[in-house]
Amino acid sequence: MSGLDDVVAAETVLSDVDGENGRLIVRGIAVEGLARHSSFEGAALLLFEGFFADLPDARAMSATLGRARAEAFARLACRLPVLSGLPPVEALRAGLSLMPDGDDLATAFALTAASAVLTAATVRIERGAEPLAPDPERGHAADMLRMATGAEPTKAAERALDAYLATVCEHGLNASTFAARIAASTRAGLGSAVVAGLSALKGPLHGGAPGPVLDMLAEIGEPARAVPWLEAALARGERLMGFGHRIYKVRDPRADALKAAVKALMKAGGAQSRLKLAEAVEKAALDLLHRAKPGRSLETNVEFYTAVLLDALGFPADSFTSVFASARVLGWIAHAREQEVSGRLIRPRSRYVGPEPRQAA
Ligand code: ACO
Repeated sequence: MSGLDDVVAAETVLSDVDGENGRLIVRGIAVEGLARHSSFEGAALLLFEGFFADLPDARAMSATLGRARAEAFARLACRLPVLSGLPPVEALRAGLSLMPDGDDLATAFALTAASAVLTAATVRIERGAEPLAPDPERGHAADMLRMATGAEPTKAAERALDAYLATVCEHGLNASTFAARIAASTRAGLGSAVVAGLSALKGPLHGGAPGPVLDMLAEIGEPARAVPWLEAALARGERLMGFGHRIYKVRDPRADALKAAVKALMKAGGAQSRLKLAEAVEKAALDLLHRAKPGRSLETNVEFYTAVLLDALGFPADSFTSVFASARVLGWIAHAREQEVSGRLIRPRSRYVGPEPRQAA
């Protein structure tokens, strides 16, 4: 009851999360296909279609988004020093709140672009480097990588980031999307909906998990240490990050989509050892979880291979939630528009279980 399990709170054309069969369909396309073939721009078009007038066609999309990145940087550059020192996801939240709060396509692009620009800038600032201005001529993923790492991204890295962004851009009525829809249901504006979504995403039970996954892999260090480390964590009553999901009763299909992206990246020259370690830790964790919680369906979730992939791409662990948000911003915006267009004010009730009426002191 307290977690609203199985409550249907909205109808959506955006995605179908089938937890029993481990399937995710985004506007008719299976997530595996999106991961393999879609760019970030393609995913944006897929999700925004029907919710905005004047959506550019596929050919014009990259240039439009590139211009939006340049505009977002121009708007935010002078504020970046104020954001330095904040944890990256809090800097992103503060920066996004400086963006427009309309409900038109320009606002949608501004928020989408600003998410990537701010995420990359905070990575640079944390490393003591100057933020890099966007290059509007590049694809969104390639430019985000270049702005974050300061290096020319390889084709394989660009493809891997596109695969990641397309895989996690939309996922039904998860906690952050619900928060975004609630804000949108009051007609607060897309900026408010995105900030509400990000605020809910940030927690370790939702989008804050991949950083701790990487910490766990680093602490374990080598495959032989996986079992004792995980056993000790479970004995302390800790949750193993990257495992378990409210909806998926079987393996999260995004885990395999991302594992395939990691493998493709490693094949193109990345270090294989982190992948081998991750596979050993995953196997050990699943064995232990199945034994420790026999009645529960605790399987690998999206965050496990997110950590391996974003680490291999050069993002620091504390920026993972912001990179996630740079993708999920598409889902938040599309859901917010859907709520604005076809929904009502979301206003559930609570049952009072406090003290009986009494005299005020
Ligand atoms: N490790 C150990 N035990 C777990 C884990 C885990 N990762 N996940 C759930 N459990 C246990 C709980 O302790 C509980 O056991 P109990 O009934 O004996 O007390 C039982 O499984 C059910 O847990 P709930 O919290 O009721 O299940 P819920 O559906 O709320 O959990 C959640 C979903 C929050 C994702 C949980 O599995 C978890 O905390 N996982 C680790 C964090 C994580 O990976 N988050 C990312 C999720 S994906 C995303 O949001 C993008």
